[in-house]
Amino acid sequence: MAIARLARQDAAPVVELRGVHKRFGQLLVLRGIDLALESGKTTVIIGESGSGKSVILKHIVRLLKPDRGEVYHRGQRIDHLPERKLAKLRSGFGFLFQLNALFDSLTVGQNVSFPLIEHLRMKRKKAAEVAEEKLTMVGLPGIQGKWPAELSGGQKKRVALARSIAVNPQVILYDEPTTGLDPPRADVINELIRKLQRELGVTSVVVTHDMASARKVADRILMLYGGQFIYDGTSESIMHAVDPRVRRFVEGLAAEDDLASLSAGGGR
Ligand SMILES: Nc1ncnc2c1ncn2[C@@H]1O[C@H](COP(=O)(O)OP(=O)(O)O)[C@@H](O)[C@H]1O
Ligand SMILES: [Mg+2]
Repeated sequence: MAIARLARQDAAPVVELRGVHKRFGQLLVLRGIDLALESGKTTVIIGESGSGKSVILKHIVRLLKPDRGEVYHRGQRIDHLPERKLAKLRSGFGFLFQLNALFDSLTVGQNVSFPLIEHLRMKRKKAAEVAEEKLTMVGLPGIQGKWPAELSGGQKKRVALARSIAVNPQVILYDEPTTGLDPPRADVINELIRKLQRELGVTSVVVTHDMASARKVADRILMLYGGQFIYDGTSESIMHAVDPRVRRFVEGLAAEDDLASLSAGGGR
């Protein structure tokens, strides 16, 4: 019995969403999302601002609960778990979310070792060693004594990434990791996403509206539109997509209704 169950867990996707619906008041954001993450792969979700990309990530770690549908981690249903069981479940995930700023009153090293001491109850000295190792991994060796205020935006992102991999997560969720960075700095982040996949074998989900970043890191790209996925394919094939909604996004053009509202609304 137990062996059969383990075998089933092994074959199950790392994370799976089935028929997930979510609404906020009148706004129906997700209208039946099916998504299975393959182990060790990087899945990229693209879509315009406000399309529900962050909402999907939040369902993966139960920061949000679906109105309808189910969420599974390695075959285990998690969407209906009580709050007290969620901390352990979330500890297997690394997040690089838009709002996970560094603590300004802690040094870089203390920021990175924070989850180790706080959540894993690791001894300070050991945690500091791990922090040093993770900072080296993101290309910032020896900066543990600096303060966040001394760093550039790109460096802060990398420190936040070092912090999110400190606990050795099996899955990393990136929410708009390149937003606000100039192209060379954004590319450093893209390279890091690939490096972590290669060296740590992690399963990743990257949410972005940066098409160049999506193409660079994706094993698979999905496009969210109107609460559903309207595209699912490789970063090569998306360049040849025929759906005009996908094409507009790939080519970086504004949607027709946005253009219409511009000409109607004048100089807003
Ligand atoms: N907790 C919430 N309460 C109400 N509305 C929300 C909440 N979270 C997200 N939304 C709305 O859902 C839509 C999708 O949000 P989001 O997933 O953040 O978009 P994005 O694709 O830019 O990440 C937006 O209109 C947003 O305002
Ligand atoms: Mg978002």
